[in-house]
Amino acid sequence: MDQSQLARDRFIIGRFIDALPEPVVVIGAADRVLAVNPPAQALFPALRQDDLLARGLRAADVLDAIARSRASGRPERTTWLERVPVERFFELSVAPMEGPQIEPTMILTLRDMSEARRVERMRVDFVANASHELRTPLASLLGFVETLQGPAREDKENRIKFLGIMREQAQRMTRLVDDLLSLSRIEQNLHLRPQTPVDMVAILRHMADTLASMARDNDVALKLEAPKSVMVRGDRDELLRVVENLVENAIKYGASEPTSLNRTVEITLVEQERQCVLSVRDFGPGIAPEHLPRLTERFYRVDAGQSRAKGGTGLGLAIVKHIVARHCGRLGIESKPGSGATFSVNLPLLGR
Ligand SMILES: Nc1ncnc2c1ncn2[C@@H]1O[C@H](COP(=O)(O)OP(=O)(O)OP(=O)(O)O)[C@@H](O)[C@H]1O
Ligand SMILES: [Mg+2]
Repeated sequence: MDQSQLARDRFIIGRFIDALPEPVVVIGAADRVLAVNPPAQALFPALRQDDLLARGLRAADVLDAIARSRASGRPERTTWLERVPVERFFELSVAPMEGPQIEPTMILTLRDMSEARRVERMRVDFVANASHELRTPLASLLGFVETLQGPAREDKENRIKFLGIMREQAQRMTRLVDDLLSLSRIEQNLHLRPQTPVDMVAILRHMADTLASMARDNDVALKLEAPKSVMVRGDRDELLRVVENLVENAIKYGASEPTSLNRTVEITLVEQERQCVLSVRDFGPGIAPEHLPRLTERFYRVDAGQSRAKGGTGLGLAIVKHIVARHCGRLGIESKPGSGATFSVNLPLLGR
């Protein structure tokens, strides 16, 4: 085969792999790179045509797989995990290209499995967390049932006390299951934007009524500042849930804490150009920066013991985030440890 034929072959191979969406590298004799398509080049910026493959791709497993495939003449598969700058996980396959070419050519293709791996990991964590959260109250319920069947059978006073605790535990499980169900329902409808016009101010008033007794019990003052009416497109129950959760958190983890600078929760709603901004501010202990990005993960709690003691399941902010996303809004969290936290929700105004 003459030089011009070789150049033409390379050109065709190059054009061919350029059209493929997945990263592909074509490797010639002595592990020299014959062609790299743009996705592969983006992945391995140091890969150069005619250079040694090992120069641009420092992954021993991958080089081994190529050597094995070259020796056996059969396709080989392997995986490759890159940790920096972000974790990425690839499935690779390498196969010899049959044909009349003078060079023994190998085709290396990669599939980015990072997203699938992340989702799978989340699923596993989620099942583990949900089971754990259910198991604790369930074990306590069973324990009390056994006590009531045995040692405390005739003990009227303890029976009443234990039944009270059992009721609490059962309510806790019900709340958890309800939260999980609403989370999955909201997730299913994530791409369906709710269309009903609703008044955010009416929702805030309703929330203030519902949470008045909780605020009183915790000796916390709710300060509400809002215009007469602010219309958005949304689902009333879901938006109420957002507001309730944020204010409940501000009471539970902010204003009612002994270290709180003052025992008020400020709830303000303002209209900006095309959106309204709701903010819920407390002056409690606040949240350390390392926790902020993870707060909206399911079951994530800064202090799981404290939250559980206050009846929390750690699903509240995950639900808030999903509802806000479904309403094409944005959730923001700001906090300076020691001086409180501000949770804000931006929502597009009706007709914008
Ligand atoms: N205003 C706040 N100040 C300090 N920490 C907060 C505040 N709001 C939330 N947090 C922290 O974020 C965690 C997650 O809140 P989230 O609402 O998701 O769960 P929860 O309140 O524990 O349970 P749930 O809302 O399901 O009853 C809380 O456990 C708490 O540690
Ligand atoms: Mg909460």
